[in-house]
Parts: sequence; C-alpha cells; structure tokens
Amino acid sequence: MSGKLIENAIEALENSYAPYSGFNVAAAVLTDSGKIYTGVNVENSSYPAGICAECNAVAKAVSCGERKIISIAIVSRNTRAPKGGDGGYTSPCGICRQFLREFSDPKELKVIMAKSVDDYKEMTLEELLPLSFGPESLA
Ligand code: THU
Repeated sequence: MSGKLIENAIEALENSYAPYSGFNVAAAVLTDSGKIYTGVNVENSSYPAGICAECNAVAKAVSCGERKIISIAIVSRNTRAPKGGDGGYTSPCGICRQFLREFSDPKELKVIMAKSVDDYKEMTLEELLPLSFGPESLA
C-alpha cells in the first residue's frame, strides 16, 4: 500500500502551487475506509496565508466525512536545488504533525517520507510527535 500512496502523492505534485518558495510538496493520506485523498501546498502572495500539503490532504479527507488517517505519504521537489530538484525526505512540519494527530492513533499512523516509490523513510507519528496533545487530553 505504501507504493500506491507514494504514487498518488507523486501524481499530485504536479498541482502544487509554490511560486514563492519553489518548494513543491504533495501528500496522500489513506483513511480507515480505504480511500486515498491527496493535497498539495498552496502558497499565497501574503506568505503566512499559505497552507501545507499534509494539512490540505487531511482537510480534504475530513471534508468528505473521514475521521481516521491510517498512513500518509509525503513527496517534494525543490525547484531551486542546484541539481535535479530533489526535495529530500520531507518530514511534516509541526503544525502538520498536530493536524494529523487529531485524526489518528499516533502509535499506528505511518508517516512515509518518500523520494520515490522505492526510496523512502517511514516513522510513526508518535516518533515524530512524542507526548502529544490530542482529543482525549480534553476528555
Ligand atoms: N511545506 C509543506 O507543504 N509541508 C511541510 O510539512 C513542510 C513545508 C510547504 C510550505 C511551503 O509552501 C513550502 O513547503 C516551503 O516551506
């Protein structure tokens, strides 16, 4: 399944809108219903108004009624990199980690940081966001 998720993210990368940073990001999330939703970063001429790819993918899934993310694949392209436009293994920013936390079990959620379908690093959300604050913290 990680291969399919990465493929979906790579396909979505074409739609990333990043004219200001030149750093294109795309994410694909798999939900507990078995569906895949993609998202890209969408920058803005008023810089802080931009949104990350991961948040966008999660927001899309939640907007369609989904409430649980099982895994997420993230890919990127750095158009300003000296060679090849490689964005490296892109790990989710702090806000994206917290956004994912709301709709996942951090011990179970797989975060796949990919350069290609067969070159990726995988970590759980708990590893990326230890001692996290989530919905049950308010119970
Ligand atoms: N970006 C993401 O889309 N996800 C991340 O987790 C890290 C950063 C975007 C935001 C901005 O459009 C560009 O990458 C450079 O920071």
